[in-house]
Amino acid sequence: MCTIIVFVIIDTRDLTDKMKAVLKMNDRGDYTIPAAHLYEHQWLWDSCFIALGLSTYNVRRAQSEILRLLKGQWSNGMMPNMIFSHNGHADARIWQSKLSPFAPEGIATSGITQPPLLAEAIYKIGQRLKPAERRMWYRKVYPALLSYHTWLYRERDPHHEGLITLIHPWESGLDNSPVWTRAMHDNTIPWWIRLIDRLPLEFIINRIRKDTRFIRSSERSTTLEILVNHHVQQRLRAKAYNSEKILLRSHFQVQDLAFNSILIRNNQLLFKIAQDLRRTIPESLRNSMKMTVDALQELWDPTEGVFFSRNFITHQLIDEPSIMTFMPLYAGIITSHQKDRLVELLKNKHWNTKMPVPSVPTSSGQFSPTRYWQGPTWVNTNWLIIDGLLRCGEKELAKEIAEKTLAVVAHHGSYEYFNPLSGDPLGAQNFSWTAALCLELLSRVGD
Ligand code: GLC
Repeated sequence: MCTIIVFVIIDTRDLTDKMKAVLKMNDRGDYTIPAAHLYEHQWLWDSCFIALGLSTYNVRRAQSEILRLLKGQWSNGMMPNMIFSHNGHADARIWQSKLSPFAPEGIATSGITQPPLLAEAIYKIGQRLKPAERRMWYRKVYPALLSYHTWLYRERDPHHEGLITLIHPWESGLDNSPVWTRAMHDNTIPWWIRLIDRLPLEFIINRIRKDTRFIRSSERSTTLEILVNHHVQQRLRAKAYNSEKILLRSHFQVQDLAFNSILIRNNQLLFKIAQDLRRTIPESLRNSMKMTVDALQELWDPTEGVFFSRNFITHQLIDEPSIMTFMPLYAGIITSHQKDRLVELLKNKHWNTKMPVPSVPTSSGQFSPTRYWQGPTWVNTNWLIIDGLLRCGEKELAKEIAEKTLAVVAHHGSYEYFNPLSGDPLGAQNFSWTAALCLELLSRVGD
């Protein structure tokens, strides 16, 4: 079974086998780690992407991936971005989720969330089940899903603006995206962090940093970014992860474009799941969901002709071009003028690189082809763009990006990210969401 793919022929059966082998290698029983050594825990949006891939050949295992995520849910509805591999792990001691009265018993987690793709994973798993089984599945997970979306609005939209505010770059999943590094520099960075950053300590710091033990430091966040992120995490912990206290005075407060776009689509899917179960979503949540659709338009900059994230306090748009630019395609509720503009940008040379779509356009002063979310191409954001393009009728462009994505992975393997200028592999090897989303894309080949 071979499909002709732009410039190369991909053996889809071979690629399928290799991608399944990656997921098997990272399987820890009822959850999948993103990659050995570097990421040893269960991550929220990783597991949602992983479940999408698993559901193409093992629905039961996809269900257990999601059920394990739900074990980490807090009693107030919060879904943590990490569930630690074991309670005594050093990372669990850093977070100390037990400080919050809402943290679950007996399972250590972080105290912040990640992009809300849970409904996407739950819905797609449901689509692969027979109607009776599907309803059983939805009935099992619906209360948790509803309580997560309710938590997002209750705790992170205090002014009822319809937009969720994130309090840490790790919540966006796009850690060092220029949008977030700008937010970081807009605030006072503690003097001791600046001092450490200026001293020639790179060698010592790289010995302490776990990530640079496995990956070249030029492919990761800078030491300054890491130190600030850890410092802010400690401040969140000091407030026992209480959103109300945190939002009174917080280093980071960003109405993140990608997160809110993802929320819009996942609200729609939550709605479909509720419909299937003949349940009514509470009115206040329904109102908030509608408000988000309208509020997205406030993030549109008519002069630049793009959407941006916004500072929650100043209400100023953060005019940094990044991969977030295209996430409203996934939201699926933009005007046809806005859609045409985003499609035009995807074809522009600054975005349409050899291996599209870069996390930052080549025209930006922040562009670096190798540094994490500051230029490299990631398969998960490509998947979100492809899915959005397909739903708005841009089949050709979706197919082109999907083919290039599959081709680069078939050639190099399931890497964490890729150099957008050369296609060279970067970051962790055998990375789970790359494998899972290739499987999901392969399941659509011929559509
Ligand atoms: C990095 C990524 C984040 C991901 C995590 C685990 O922190 O920025 O999006 O969830 O790794 O793969």
